[in-house]
Amino acid sequence: MSACNTCKDTEKTGVLHIKKAVKRFGGKTVVNVEDIRIGTHCIEGLIGPNGAGKSTLINLMTQKLSLTEGEIIYYRGDEAINVSSKNLNTLAKLNLVRSNQIIQDFASLTIVDSMILANTDLRHEKFYKLFNDKEVREAAQEKIDFYLDYFHFDFPEGHALSAGEKKLLDIIRCLILNPKFLLLDEPTAGLPQDQSDKVIDLLQKKTAEEDMCVLIVEHNLDLIWRVCDYIHFMADGQILIQGTPDEIKGNETVNKKYIGEESNA
Ligand SMILES: Nc1ncnc2c1ncn2[C@@H]1O[C@H](COP(=O)(O)OP(=O)(O)OP(=O)(O)O)[C@@H](O)[C@H]1O
Ligand SMILES: [Mg+2]
Repeated sequence: MSACNTCKDTEKTGVLHIKKAVKRFGGKTVVNVEDIRIGTHCIEGLIGPNGAGKSTLINLMTQKLSLTEGEIIYYRGDEAINVSSKNLNTLAKLNLVRSNQIIQDFASLTIVDSMILANTDLRHEKFYKLFNDKEVREAAQEKIDFYLDYFHFDFPEGHALSAGEKKLLDIIRCLILNPKFLLLDEPTAGLPQDQSDKVIDLLQKKTAEEDMCVLIVEHNLDLIWRVCDYIHFMADGQILIQGTPDEIKGNETVNKKYIGEESNA
């Protein structure tokens, strides 16, 4: 059952159970999470200082990186999917989808073509054929029109040029994949305020109206307090505190290890 007022049904969106999860690089332990569940609320936040291990944890949850020890199980309805036994693309097909903190791709695709590619299952075909396929284009058209209209790209038949456009396109690509569980690594970093507000409005609308839950990693704490139903606080590779925005805001450890530091910066 969901503890969140607005969630439709967590049975449909699923919960990630992270158990004794350790990630080491060389001899250095960067993630060491004992036992937590992510996804019991519509919109959750993962916060913590630089280098806390947030991106690494997202990478582990989506199998962009492999665990050194432990396990991560995605429970959804009657299914129990061992994340470590899948790859990134298989997980995306299971509607467990992630965005990236640093956007590296899209260099050779136009904005529209990136959306077409996200909307097709034919990823193993020689993909240049896709963009001239009338059926493939038409299948994506409604979504393309919606996102172009909503975010107002200057030149959709061109490439995403600015960091902000690339970021938006990465989020749109995730949403086109119809995620049930969406993990967003700093989705509004580098976006102008109006676009950032649009992203957040859209996420709130989708989580309220569709079977979708979201985990947001962000340093923008005003945003985190405003939109999250539940927050996980991470430092030194561990999840130290979990709670509602009010509980986290008022927590001494969070203030000492993170918020105080941020406000002094
Ligand atoms: N591929 C890697 N090889 C070695 N060390 C790594 C690698 N990736 C991350 N680290 C280290 O793991 C630690 C956690 O990094 P991570 O990127 O997960 O932090 P973060 O919480 O996302 O920080 P930020 O808020 O700055 O994005 C850091 O000390 C980082 O240097
Ligand atoms: Mg990070």
